[in-house]
Amino acid sequence: MKIINNVKKMQACADQARFEYKKIAFVPTMGYLHEGHLSLIRIARELCDLLVVSIFVNPSQFAPHEDFDAYPRNFQRDFEMTEKEGVDIVFSPEIDEIYPSKFQTYVSLEKIPIHLCGISRPIFFRGVATVVTKLFNIVKPHTAVFGKKDYQQLLVIRRMVSDLHMDIDIIGGETIREHDGLAMSSRNTYLTKTQRESALSLNKAMKSAQTAVESGVIDASRIISETKAFISSHPGTQIDYVAICDPETLEDIQVINRPALMALAVKVGSTRLIDNMILNMK
Ligand code: PAF
Repeated sequence: MKIINNVKKMQACADQARFEYKKIAFVPTMGYLHEGHLSLIRIARELCDLLVVSIFVNPSQFAPHEDFDAYPRNFQRDFEMTEKEGVDIVFSPEIDEIYPSKFQTYVSLEKIPIHLCGISRPIFFRGVATVVTKLFNIVKPHTAVFGKKDYQQLLVIRRMVSDLHMDIDIIGGETIREHDGLAMSSRNTYLTKTQRESALSLNKAMKSAQTAVESGVIDASRIISETKAFISSHPGTQIDYVAICDPETLEDIQVINRPALMALAVKVGSTRLIDNMILNMK
């Protein structure tokens, strides 16, 4: 496995692979890899001749008060894990390689980011769309794989790829959960034992919502209030949002008479967790 830190070198490898008609698949990450990332890497491995994983904690998607400095990092462990999975190249640039001093170009979307996480994290999706565009221009993949846990991010990437005519297939990988239902996230490492117990309320609440919908409850506001009450009854939780919305536009839905996205963001202690589920009628 090669480790590349330099944009020009990565582009040259991508050009060479394309010259040899090799198919390039790409999994962008911010490192501190877990089973969720590995499942995306395994999907990508099946689809290509050259598998590239990036490890880059992207400063432009963190607001000044967020956890950029504290974001967990363990490059050595990440390299060992990627090597085991048969990754061909890890692209792991320094910040000034991606954002040189004169940098001033950003990619932003108009509608998808005004909902859900975009309300409390107004610069987040601009940072994600910008860095993913850059990474696509550097890695030159045919296919890229993103997790469905970051549902809104996946929608942003799909919209951007379509709007900007990027010739890349975007694949969504299922959310991977711990045995007790907690969605895997690098940020889970921040949770204390008690906070982790409280964090389980997100998945439990979504499962109850699904049961309610199956038993005929169609009033979204009732399900939202019950979900908020349930999560708030757990110590240390502070709800950012609980939403039931259209899975494509993310606009709120009042009556659940078709598949609807239930999306949650909850702070447990100081750790912000997100999760989502598609609610289906019976
Ligand atoms: O999902 C992530 O880890 C990041 O948002 C991404 C897509 C790697 C961009 O920095």
